Amino acid sequence: MPPAEPNRPLLILGGTTEAAMLAARLAAAHPGIAATVSLAGRTQDPRPLALPMRIGGFGGAGGLADYLAASGTKAVIDATHPFAAVMPFNATEACRSAGIPLLALQRPEWVAKESDHWTRVATMAEAALALGDAPRRVFLTIGRQELPAFAAAPHHAYLARVIDPPNGPLPPNLTLLRHRGPFDTEAETELMRREKIGIVVAKNAGGEATIGKIIAARRLGLPLVMVSRPARPAMPTVATVEEAMDWLGAHGCLPTRRGV
Ligand SMILES: NC(=O)c1ccc[n+]([C@@H]2O[C@H](COP(=O)([O-])OP(=O)(O)OC[C@H]3O[C@@H](n4cnc5c(N)ncnc54)[C@H](OP(=O)(O)O)[C@@H]3O)[C@@H](O)[C@H]2O)c1
Repeated sequence: MPPAEPNRPLLILGGTTEAAMLAARLAAAHPGIAATVSLAGRTQDPRPLALPMRIGGFGGAGGLADYLAASGTKAVIDATHPFAAVMPFNATEACRSAGIPLLALQRPEWVAKESDHWTRVATMAEAALALGDAPRRVFLTIGRQELPAFAAAPHHAYLARVIDPPNGPLPPNLTLLRHRGPFDTEAETELMRREKIGIVVAKNAGGEATIGKIIAARRLGLPLVMVSRPARPAMPTVATVEEAMDWLGAHGCLPTRRGV
């Protein structure tokens, strides 16, 4: 874990488009603001951000609490991905013990239209089962970490889109597509058509950056296995960067004109 830099009153837990957008908004509105964006370090070559970043886990809730104290953090924005199942709990516990406010910046879920053919499941193991017994051409748009779940359904042909190469046991008939979003609807439709995709597996990540695949599946009348979000702890939550800015202002976390 990198050591905490002192006098960094604002910590953004990142790894998402929203965190990058908030960093850009803060840096533009308050040049030199002493804020840090934290990344887990899953992506080998993360996109540059408008604010300084630190990379690597904190060592659980206790490690995060130590970091908050050492960095003089006064507020935390949890802008982790809706499928980050651990960090929001660690942040809640660490902020509670440190007595500092915590806000979640989280995009709303995608909602099915009447014409959509979604099968909703709770886990990747259930998603693999939901593909059924007959072999299909499956588009996996779930990242790389959970691809091993589909080794349990080796009779399908998979196309998986990833940023970095995956590890672990993988299904035998797997083609990897190395791309980083955003992906527009036209390109997604063309890809699914060209690859003769019969079914799509997606996480209900929400937001605009990756909604193209959902609209493309809808257009092509393709069934979609939608993995629901994991449980999160209760905390104040906003959906937009502007609302997060308002919350920071209301909590005295933005520099005033006199630099206070
Ligand atoms: N899961 C997804 O589908 C997904 C998709 C896109 C982006 N991401 C991003 O990738 C990161 C890891 O995702 P995950 O699903 O592995 O999360 P997770 O299950 O909630 O977290 C696992 C561990 O990774 C570390 N960690 C997570 N987010 C961190 C952050 N922002 N800064 C520093 N350490 C962090 C923490 O380690 P310690 O306990 O040692 O502190 C945490 O206990 C998250 O930042 C998330 O925003 C995840």
